[in-house]
Amino acid sequence: MKPLISKLPNVGTTIFTVMSQLAEQHRAVNLSQGFPDFSPPAGLLERVENALRGRYHQYAPMPGSVALRAAIAGKLKDMYGVTVDPVTDVTVTSGATEAIFEAIQAVVRPGDEVIVFDPCYDSYEPSVTLAGGNVVHLPLVLPQFAIDWDRLEASLNARTRLVIVNTPHNPSGAVLRSADFDRLADLLRRYDCYLLSDEVYEHVVFDGARHATVLAQPELAARSFAVFSFGKTYHATGWKLGYCVAPAPLSAEIRRIHQYVTFSSTTPLQQALAEYLVAHPEHHRNLPAFYQERRDYFAALLKHTKFEPLPVPGTYFQLADYGAISSLPDVEFARWLTIEHGVAVIPVSVFYERAPDVKLVRFCFAKENATLDAAAQRLRAL
Ligand SMILES: Cc1ncc(COP(=O)(O)O)c(C=O)c1O
Repeated sequence: MKPLISKLPNVGTTIFTVMSQLAEQHRAVNLSQGFPDFSPPAGLLERVENALRGRYHQYAPMPGSVALRAAIAGKLKDMYGVTVDPVTDVTVTSGATEAIFEAIQAVVRPGDEVIVFDPCYDSYEPSVTLAGGNVVHLPLVLPQFAIDWDRLEASLNARTRLVIVNTPHNPSGAVLRSADFDRLADLLRRYDCYLLSDEVYEHVVFDGARHATVLAQPELAARSFAVFSFGKTYHATGWKLGYCVAPAPLSAEIRRIHQYVTFSSTTPLQQALAEYLVAHPEHHRNLPAFYQERRDYFAALLKHTKFEPLPVPGTYFQLADYGAISSLPDVEFARWLTIEHGVAVIPVSVFYERAPDVKLVRFCFAKENATLDAAAQRLRAL
């Protein structure tokens, strides 16, 4: 047999799986992986049941259910005042992960450079590697996790094909403002490259801020893929449904790939989401307040511990400095905390190519108060 040469030799089991397994093994409170421990809205679950009892069992249209794409376009108009054509510009995918993979495959060619900002979500790099591209990691500047614009400009060159941003940002919670997209538009025009804007936490922004989407920056939107996730918005990460919004020619390329990766995504869930999105826009409109309450609740609990929480403008993640508790490197600290003290967290260095010398871990606060209380009780003992 010919030797099997891995196309992704550096990829192992993700830290999220590792920490969740460790949490289960040691009966730790799992604040590591980013998923809620509460249910999707009851009205949505009813619609799923109805769809399952009804006639929604066969392949959905390849780009997504017509009703769902129309509902998505309606929501984008309502939330951000942007007009997209649901027929040509919106593609429903099996989670944002599929959309990210396909956007990258659509534009990245062998030898192309793709700029990402560290700390960075873990699915970007393997997708670029499979497309034959090279990832250029630029660190975000602490403590705000801000883009270093000079460094970005210095890194852009004729080989740069794609820049990937994520707002609100996992793991730091940092958000981009519309002025940041203006600045990106200026830079990317000069270097003629594409943008992938990962906006899966679009409805998890705090303190009265409004989510700035790339879709509202017309010049940049013309060269961008914007990616969203129903899993994050409806407390249903296991449903694996998301979508990509991009101009027609870019969406056509996404669909060429989507057609042969999954062909289409689960029909009954698309139907239920289409109905619910139109009937209950208050669900996503109220999400910032819903998560802000949890953010503040968890921050108040952390005050009684030696962790030093960082500000959280968006997402359902809380970064905290553990320097007053331990001098262990973060991966070892996270294992120790899980095994010895029963709280599972994610070490921040795993989001980096070259991690800075900081002692930060990520907690997920998308949890019932009882779960957060149980974690805090253990953290207070440290
Ligand atoms: C920044 C970011 N992008 C994309 C995803 C993937 O979303 P989905 O579960 O819809 O595939 C996640 C999930 O944690 C995420 O945090």
